[in-house]
Amino acid sequence: MAEPVTAEVTEAADLTALSVAAADFVAAVVTASVAEGGRCTVALSGGSTPRRLYELLAGAYRDRAPWSRVEWFFGDERCVPPDHPESNYRSARESLFVPLRIAPGLVHRIPGERLPADAAAAYDAVLHDRLTAGRFDLVLLGLGADGHTASLFPGAPALDERERWAISVDGGAELAVRERVTVTLPVLNAARVVSFLAAGTEKRSAVSRVLAGDTSLPAGRVHPAGRLVWFVDQAARGN
Ligand code: 6PG
Repeated sequence: MAEPVTAEVTEAADLTALSVAAADFVAAVVTASVAEGGRCTVALSGGSTPRRLYELLAGAYRDRAPWSRVEWFFGDERCVPPDHPESNYRSARESLFVPLRIAPGLVHRIPGERLPADAAAAYDAVLHDRLTAGRFDLVLLGLGADGHTASLFPGAPALDERERWAISVDGGAELAVRERVTVTLPVLNAARVVSFLAAGTEKRSAVSRVLAGDTSLPAGRVHPAGRLVWFVDQAARGN
């Protein structure tokens, strides 16, 4: 068992309060990054948890940070077309990019409509072109009840990838979309800031194990060079 990670944990009453706290944090990180370097690279999480956060950023927080100076990426994508209901890009486009009027050239989606290996290779090339040393300024991550994050699933060979920055994976038959493209641990751990969002009682066990340093879970392998910040609700924290 690894040493418990030195994570910063913010506990909120519920998903709405969690999303507000996370929105404050994201706006602050983006503002500081742009002030320092003129731009900010953000990898968005998929899944349902961050949806409220994205809506807040495009709504109440639309004037709280220089969103037009952000380059937007994804931590993972399901291998479906961009207009598919399961597409992480479609969710972010609807809740964030369109309402914030983000210029299309600032959004680097993973081409899920292509063959998985080709989509991964294409995204890997984009990451090498747009990132220095594979380093995102901010990575937003969700957490599965099984401890997966992005599309890094327990026991997957993808967890041992050390060279490529994006790879295709088979997430297994129980997923609605099993073919995925995901960034790899070297990219997650190079980040200046990684922030997990987790809500609901079904995440309680995984949250507790990851924060206790359980590296048998993929999320427990995320130890960024910079800050590791968790936003959890009371249900996920078990209080
Ligand atoms: C995805 C995500 C995945 C997600 C977790 C939590 O594409 O599904 O990247 O890692 O963050 O499965 O999903 P929920 O937020 O829907 O619980």
